[in-house]
Amino acid sequence: MRFFKKDSPTPGHGKGGRHGNNNNNNNNDVGVIADHHRKAMYHWQSEGSKKSSVDDMVLLTKITEDAITDNLKRRLMEDKIYTYIGPVLVAVNPFKQLPYFGDKELEMYQGAATYEVPPHIYAVADTMYRNMLIDSDNQCVIISGESGAGKTVSAKYIMNYITKVSQGSSKVQHIKDIILESNPLLEAFGNAKTTRNNNSSRFGKYIEIQFSRGGEPLGGKISNFLLEKSRVHSLNDGERSFHIFYQLCAGADSNMGEQLGITTPDYFQYLAQSDVYKVDNMNDAHEFQETLNAMNVMGITEDTQLDILRIVAAILHMGNITFAEQGNAAYIVSPDYLAFPAYLLGVSAEALGQKLVSRVFDSKWGSKSERVDVTLNMEQAQFTRDAWTKGLYAQLFDYIVETINKAMMTDANLINLGILDIYGFEIFGKNGFEQFCINYVNEKLQQIFIDLTLKSEQEEYNAEGIQWKPIKYFDNKIVCELIESKRPPGIMSILDDTCATMSAKSEGADEDFHRKMESQVGTHHHYQKFNQGFMIKHYAGNVSYHIDGFCEKNRDVLFPDIIEVMQSSTNPFICSLFSDGAQGGGKGRPGVGTKARYEGKGRPTTAGMKIRTQANELVTTLTKCVPHYIRCIKPNETKKPHDWDNQMAKHQVEYLGLKENIKVKRAGFAYRRPFHKFLQRYAILSPQKLANSPSNPTQAIDSIMATINMDRDQYQIGYSKVFIKDPESLYMIEECRERKLDYYIRVIQNAFRKFFCKQKSNKVAMEASQLFLNRKERRENSLNRNFHGDYIGMDFRPALSALIPRREKVLFALTVDKLDRQFRKSKRDLILTKGGLYLIGLVKIKKGPEKGKIVQALKRKIDLENVTQATLSTLRDNLVVIHVRNDYEMVLEVEFKAELIMLLNRELKKHHKRELPLNFTNNITYSVKKMRWGMNSQKKLVFTTGTGKEPEFVSSGNTLTIKVPPGLPNTSWPTGKRVITPDIRMLGATLNASSNKKLPVHKKRTPPNHHPSPPASHHSPPAGNQRAAPGFPPRPIGQPPRPSLGLTSHFPLRPTMPPPSPSPSFNPSRPPMGTESPPTTRNGSASGGGGGGGGSGRPMMPGQNRFVARNPSFNNPSPIRPPMHQIRPPPPPSDPPPEDQPTVGTRPPFGVRPPVPLNKPKPKKPQVRALFDYNARDSDEMSFSAGDVLDLEEEGEC
Ligand SMILES: Nc1ncnc2c1ncn2[C@@H]1O[C@H](COP(=O)(O)OP(=O)(O)OP(=O)(O)O)[C@@H](O)[C@H]1O
Ligand SMILES: [Mg+2]
Repeated sequence: MRFFKKDSPTPGHGKGGRHGNNNNNNNNDVGVIADHHRKAMYHWQSEGSKKSSVDDMVLLTKITEDAITDNLKRRLMEDKIYTYIGPVLVAVNPFKQLPYFGDKELEMYQGAATYEVPPHIYAVADTMYRNMLIDSDNQCVIISGESGAGKTVSAKYIMNYITKVSQGSSKVQHIKDIILESNPLLEAFGNAKTTRNNNSSRFGKYIEIQFSRGGEPLGGKISNFLLEKSRVHSLNDGERSFHIFYQLCAGADSNMGEQLGITTPDYFQYLAQSDVYKVDNMNDAHEFQETLNAMNVMGITEDTQLDILRIVAAILHMGNITFAEQGNAAYIVSPDYLAFPAYLLGVSAEALGQKLVSRVFDSKWGSKSERVDVTLNMEQAQFTRDAWTKGLYAQLFDYIVETINKAMMTDANLINLGILDIYGFEIFGKNGFEQFCINYVNEKLQQIFIDLTLKSEQEEYNAEGIQWKPIKYFDNKIVCELIESKRPPGIMSILDDTCATMSAKSEGADEDFHRKMESQVGTHHHYQKFNQGFMIKHYAGNVSYHIDGFCEKNRDVLFPDIIEVMQSSTNPFICSLFSDGAQGGGKGRPGVGTKARYEGKGRPTTAGMKIRTQANELVTTLTKCVPHYIRCIKPNETKKPHDWDNQMAKHQVEYLGLKENIKVKRAGFAYRRPFHKFLQRYAILSPQKLANSPSNPTQAIDSIMATINMDRDQYQIGYSKVFIKDPESLYMIEECRERKLDYYIRVIQNAFRKFFCKQKSNKVAMEASQLFLNRKERRENSLNRNFHGDYIGMDFRPALSALIPRREKVLFALTVDKLDRQFRKSKRDLILTKGGLYLIGLVKIKKGPEKGKIVQALKRKIDLENVTQATLSTLRDNLVVIHVRNDYEMVLEVEFKAELIMLLNRELKKHHKRELPLNFTNNITYSVKKMRWGMNSQKKLVFTTGTGKEPEFVSSGNTLTIKVPPGLPNTSWPTGKRVITPDIRMLGATLNASSNKKLPVHKKRTPPNHHPSPPASHHSPPAGNQRAAPGFPPRPIGQPPRPSLGLTSHFPLRPTMPPPSPSPSFNPSRPPMGTESPPTTRNGSASGGGGGGGGSGRPMMPGQNRFVARNPSFNNPSPIRPPMHQIRPPPPPSDPPPEDQPTVGTRPPFGVRPPVPLNKPKPKKPQVRALFDYNARDSDEMSFSAGDVLDLEEEGEC
């Protein structure tokens, strides 16, 4: 899989957009590949389902809220919960576990291009992770949606994916464990059952996972926002408090239960008030164990764990303290209830009781300050109790977040990936200060989304002068300002003002705030007053907030005397939570700590101030990252699978602005880049050389686009950036770039290979020449050719290879002529391995079912250690006599004798520590195998200089005289100028031993009974002693070879390869000897070939054959063999020349005049079909495309 950067949703960051289902209009390769890929790939979303929906809603034919809702519904009903809008992922809560989150999907989405795989949250996670690594940019994913829409589940899937796909050591694994285990721990303390969600997050969290540049998670940081701590003491009907309370009740063992005074939850007033203790599908006891386990992973000791649970229990016990009133003074109904919480908190019961019913105020009279002890009424006492318990709980929660942060803290300066899972927008029957804050944060997130996906996108088009039809959308900035503006004061500022002037007692403050709002923001379009409060028209709907408690909750003060009591605790853990330095343990949480924190004009910080600051800081952090979006949709309130509440879903589609999102995406551009960056990356595609900073970048971009045939409507050039419309077009450019790079890489590789091979080749040529220097005349081709070693193509000859021991590497393989005792030549395959010399020929099976069948067989094996000497003439002939210890000699005519001798010598030196003795003489006496007792086994070879162009063999009795044409002087030395020799395809098809006919030897006329008997043939043998293949006159030994054929084209051609046989029966791999293919003569004419081959298989002298068209795999100038299986037989010539008629280039039989046909039919040229595309790289090559049919022509025609 390629590793190029995946599209990212940030228009401003110049990255491409995501697309899902691509209706690829570009009729280009990439599209075809993409489509093909998609079809070929199995996926849960594609299997068995007819296409009733689109997986990218940019492709919807009608863009209306109804169409969007309907599309989401159809998909949910098919269990497809993910849908794209370009780069934005819309996730519908299925309310059931779906099967596509397993290892298979983890594997499948890694590095996958988005068009290859259906929409999935893993694709978002993968894009983030990969883009982070490639760009070294921080990434974040903003998960939004209303309560119960699936944000927390989505966040967990992302964390899970990232931790699974990132590598790392055991230390990294520990960090991963902390990241994953932070979820159950934070959920135990921060989540609760609400009417909208059984596991509702009652705090916001932004988790940043910090990575090394190599992608290992090395640390992390969690920022938490506004815990809904009032849940500790007040529950709405049908809701529960934080899970940990129920977990403790269900999971504490008897020992712990006794220590902490834990019993059933209905005993505790705080839990009993809503009368809901159980949550469907939630096992509190089991989850308690998970919480404890998570604490262990965080490194929280068992003692501290107990301290934490002590506080949890103390809160429950404090909730059971009730008050009555006498004379306007509160008293504790049952002081017995003080003992246990006091014990758990390590304070005295008296102090606890006293601080619940009275409060110390610092009052100033002029320059004097005085502490005044004030008794509280019942309502105030209850308020104090609840403020105390929620203060305690908030401290505890902050401690847990800090502990997690400490456990995964790192000093390294790293890149990070942030996941924002914040409480969702919520509307309850009665909404208070908490809902106001929660919904405000959601407004802010919606604002970021609008800013980055709608607003700035459109602004950028305008700024760049891109033709653009603006899309209207609701910008919720106006609502954010209503809430957070400082000047003119928005609701939060009005609230802070009210709190600043409010007396110690809060009576009347809320009403004061209500009045002030009416006078200051009463005319705002998104504000409306009602008796008990006010209504805000949020982006997600109208929410009515009840005014009571706003001021108290905003002031959020834990009274100093309560903190003093806590600091007096005998339990060091509790003391530390309230220590000065820790500022109440909570990084200055408002009102907690011995001193209130101050901000601005010396005012103490308020909860509103804090959430506003946090929200703005969060926005700053997020806008510094490359954002990704997941828009969660809740399909129903019943929490049941496949239940679709159309109105509810449509409402979310509306307020999330999905329609506008699609419109902008559709009209917009998936990708943009500044000119210089674009040119830097894609200049490679331009046929002209583009300077790094061309004077006319737009022209340069146009030229690049023209080169790749980019449709004009697919891109626009702005003032400083180029915009590309569809992701498919971006993929196309990327693909073209990759291909181009690939091509250059191969050019460089080839150049290197060529260089090294040339060096190697020169070295071996010299090594071989050294052996013959001053001893033997040479041939030009022998001196300066490349040594290939295997001229048969052993890799494609399994039957032949089977005759050689498997482990023995073939060093040399060539079809040679072996001289028998009558000096007749027979074809043999000669194979040299480190073990020995193998001579393979054809034999007829004498017995059994296959009787009569001709098969390859090992004719002779000479162990290398038994090779004692080689004898050669001093002339330029190819005869080699191999002397064998205690055995008869072997006489071979070897086309590439220098290479063979050099390799033999090398192997003997390497494995037997001796050189091959070489004898050069023109009178060689040798012995042949003794067939019968008393026969003369001595034979003689006499070499003389002849006048012909080829050696002439004349036998007389036991002597064979070879008249050898003059060669190059024996002092010749390689020039380094390569003569390209035929490679294995030619040799495999022509010089192989399958033509195991006994070759005629040009002899002096001797009586016919001494002649070798000609092979069975329906053709008369030609004049003289030559035997001709049927329909194809042979070339006698000593005659120059016929001109070979070449593949011609309209392009300049380069000599490298011999042609494959154009015969209809051409088989790229050499058939087994003497079986599938008719034997060929030395002249290469097939005995059954009918002569239509036009000279196929004719012998070709090294360097003489010219196969001129090249394909990519033939480019390598090294002796690496081309893949033979890639060559297919050419289509049969439809009109072959008559069988017995010589074709172009054939030569008439020796001494016989060829008949001259009156109307000589022009033979149809053999053709070959290209299997793949090839771009010519040199001027002597030709380009072709897959499927092109090319003519094979004689070289002269080129
Ligand atoms: N992809 C999912 N597969 C299966 N069930 C899911 C999926 N997403 C959500 N759910 C179900 O919906 C419930 C609510 O989801 P979740 O807690 O993620 O909502 P939320 O958006 O975080 O809500 P809140 O704002 O209240 O925290 C989950 O507990 C789970 O039962
Ligand atoms: Mg949640």
